[in-house]
Amino acid sequence: MRSAIVLVSLFVLTVAQELAEPCDEEACKLPDCRCSSTSIPGGLAARDTPQFVLLTFDDAVNIINIETYRDVIYNRRNSNSCPAGVTFYVNHEYTDYQLVNELYNHGFEIALHSVSHMTNQTYWQEASYDDMVQELGEQVVQMSHFANIPTDSIKGVRLPFLQMTGNASFQVMADYNLEYDCSWPTVSQINPGLWPYTLDYASTQDCIIPPCPTASVPGVWVLPMVTWRDLNNNPCSMVDSCLAVPSTEEEWFQLILSNFERHYFGNRAPFGFYIHEWYIRENVNPHVGRALKRFLDLINNLYDVFMVNSQEVIDWVKNPVPVNEYAQQPCRTYVPTMCAPATCPVAAEHNLNVYWMSICNVCPRVYPWLGNPLGQ
Ligand SMILES: *[C@@H]1O[C@H](CO)[C@@H](O)[C@H](O)[C@H]1NC(C)=O
Ligand SMILES: *[C@@H]1O[C@H](CO)[C@@H](O)[C@H](O)[C@H]1NC(C)=O
Ligand SMILES: [Zn+2]
Repeated sequence: MRSAIVLVSLFVLTVAQELAEPCDEEACKLPDCRCSSTSIPGGLAARDTPQFVLLTFDDAVNIINIETYRDVIYNRRNSNSCPAGVTFYVNHEYTDYQLVNELYNHGFEIALHSVSHMTNQTYWQEASYDDMVQELGEQVVQMSHFANIPTDSIKGVRLPFLQMTGNASFQVMADYNLEYDCSWPTVSQINPGLWPYTLDYASTQDCIIPPCPTASVPGVWVLPMVTWRDLNNNPCSMVDSCLAVPSTEEEWFQLILSNFERHYFGNRAPFGFYIHEWYIRENVNPHVGRALKRFLDLINNLYDVFMVNSQEVIDWVKNPVPVNEYAQQPCRTYVPTMCAPATCPVAAEHNLNVYWMSICNVCPRVYPWLGNPLGQ
């Protein structure tokens, strides 16, 4: 009689993620999976595709930049009469959370830009999964608590300095219910432009600020930053990082338009106007702010162009419908919230500064920071 030999092998539990494989179009289908590609979602023709415009602002929200936001973006509507969208990538330090509450309650999108916004680029380059839990995963809780906005309204991420952290930020996003990243510029796939895609499979996107993710991170979306071209035809990810720029309002308007037209008359990949507020401030660069307003006035009157919150683009890509149908859809909604305002001086343990916090909650014991997002 044969005796069975039982081989006992030692299984080592590992948290290592699998290397992403080349994308399999048959296996990777909407709404939850999309290969990185310049093809229009749903196989739509360009003329039937809504042209989305993403105006986004980075960094702390404060009493200075809120004036520009109120002036430039409040009370704008798209041609289908839905309120125009804008996304704010907000970092914690010096942010006035009462004003974040105001932006949210005007229907704009609040997204993450880290707790520390550390200026040391190497820190981000080498950041571990645990670092990014403190920077992003815990920032969801922090933002929601101090601005009094719903946790599940926070879906997006932009990394400081657009410095990729390899797999780490994306793996944290998957584990903390964050849906899309908008930190990853493309220089080579701008005409036609790269559409949003998921990280189930290997990305074909050019990696401008390595390390880029190579692990499979199912269900997490990349909203590529399709770069602009400046007057010398050099690429820029953020409008305020373009080097060769004009000096008059009219020329700025033309520069914006020429970059927009590459999308609008091309494959209609979402067009980004990614900027920091100071660059369009009336008393810094009045001609840029005025050119932007002219551009927004123009597109807000085009029947197939929509200025939206970034998460609306991801929603559309998941369920693409032709522009005529899209324009009939109900406008986005949000759950309105109140702000019970408090202003408090709070000492920080990490640098011994005293910060004046403006929040919609009770005053924290210490200044909230990495590892202690609520300042308890
Ligand atoms: C990302 O994960 C893949 C698969 O585990 C690995 O090969 C790669 O080295 C990781 N990238 C970084 C920057 O750690
Ligand atoms: C920058 O961050 C890296 C990684 O965290 C650290 O090793 C290095 O000392 C930091 N450099 C400075 C100048 O703070
Ligand atoms: Zn920033």
